[in-house]
Amino acid sequence: MTDKILIVDDDIDSLKLIGLMLQRQGYEVVAANAGNQALMKAVSERPNLIILDIMMPDMDGYEVCRRLRANADTSAIPIIMFTAKTLVDDKVAGFEAGADDYLTKPTHPQELAARVKAILMQNAPQRAPEPPKGSTIGVLGAKGGVGTTTIALNVTAALTLNGERPIVADFRLGSGSLGLFMGIGASQGMATILGKAAGSIGAPLLESELVTHQSGMRALLSSISPREGQMNYSLDSALAVVRGLRMIGRPVVFDLGNGFNPLVSRLHREMDQMVLVVEPNPVALAMAREVLQELEAEGGGSGLVHVVVINRAQPTMQTPWHEIEHSLGHEIRAIISVAHDLAFQSIRAGVPMVIYQPNAVVSSQIIKLSEDLNERIRMMADRESSS
Ligand SMILES: Nc1ncnc2c1ncn2[C@@H]1O[C@H](COP(=O)(O)OP(=O)(O)OP(=O)(O)O)[C@@H](O)[C@H]1O
Ligand SMILES: [Mg+2]
Repeated sequence: MTDKILIVDDDIDSLKLIGLMLQRQGYEVVAANAGNQALMKAVSERPNLIILDIMMPDMDGYEVCRRLRANADTSAIPIIMFTAKTLVDDKVAGFEAGADDYLTKPTHPQELAARVKAILMQNAPQRAPEPPKGSTIGVLGAKGGVGTTTIALNVTAALTLNGERPIVADFRLGSGSLGLFMGIGASQGMATILGKAAGSIGAPLLESELVTHQSGMRALLSSISPREGQMNYSLDSALAVVRGLRMIGRPVVFDLGNGFNPLVSRLHREMDQMVLVVEPNPVALAMAREVLQELEAEGGGSGLVHVVVINRAQPTMQTPWHEIEHSLGHEIRAIISVAHDLAFQSIRAGVPMVIYQPNAVVSSQIIKLSEDLNERIRMMADRESSS
């Protein structure tokens, strides 16, 4: 069941912004722009949490808070006070009036997500635990060098910004550029685990090999040591990695390399969503067509494969999108623009593009893709938990 959050603020822009952030994080949102309206909605809507602004003209947040606490119908609803001030006095007054926590404006989406989640968890011991099974997103290139790792990394980063707890995992032993993109040096976490027997690969072992990026995003990395690339591992162990990570990440994003390789052939049915990265040129498209046929022939279901086109070529050398769709016999889920400078700078900084420059065109395109994927995953999870 989705948690319902009542936001109270006289500033409409602020209501919209916070409302949008919370909706993106999967909450149901109701809004009130004045104290009296807030008191009524707290009774009629029965929210699981109230986020309350302090400075409002008709009745200030402290008074609203006191009245909510005094009414038996609303006294148990957790309250987060939301204020532009950072004065200690305000916080003390807020806690005295009965608030459970406070947030200062402007709020970072991640902080908002963390506080909201924490308060809801504290106040819902009787509610069912999170479903044990996480979700998986596979990212595969139609051919090498089209931008597969970039998409895997940035989709994961966008999910992190959105308050999820994703993990990105790099299956490219010996060509693990993912760690370099994250500014994390050589890590052989994936190889260490793939060297073990499938039966011994579980969540605790996987957790011990995860590394954490400065953004909070977690990763299971491969190195760029050519020796690592020569390692022979069993596909059963790879399967155990996918199933184990599912228990930890929400969701897990996999860099599966390119082409319908043996790993993909073994793992693609484990992916809840598959992203196929394509370049708009005849060679990449011909290869994409073959990969799509394989993915769909084995019953992955065409609805689960999302074609993403990265447009790095000069405009005159590009195949128009309707021709791409026609030649693939498959719709395009997203088109990602070229951004040479940003791609370069973000690698040098070790920070994914969507975090380095969230407002850039490419970033918003990738953020939108991640939201789209996340919504599909959530819908799948809802369907599963209700069946
Ligand atoms: N939208 C973009 N605009 C410009 N450059 C990009 C864009 N996306 C990715 N790049 C750059 O293209 C290069 C290749 O990207 P990436 O490593 O993600 O591709 P790949 O398909 O994973 O390659 P490989 O097959 O080697 O693993 C990188 O230098 C990356 O920064
Ligand atoms: Mg790559």
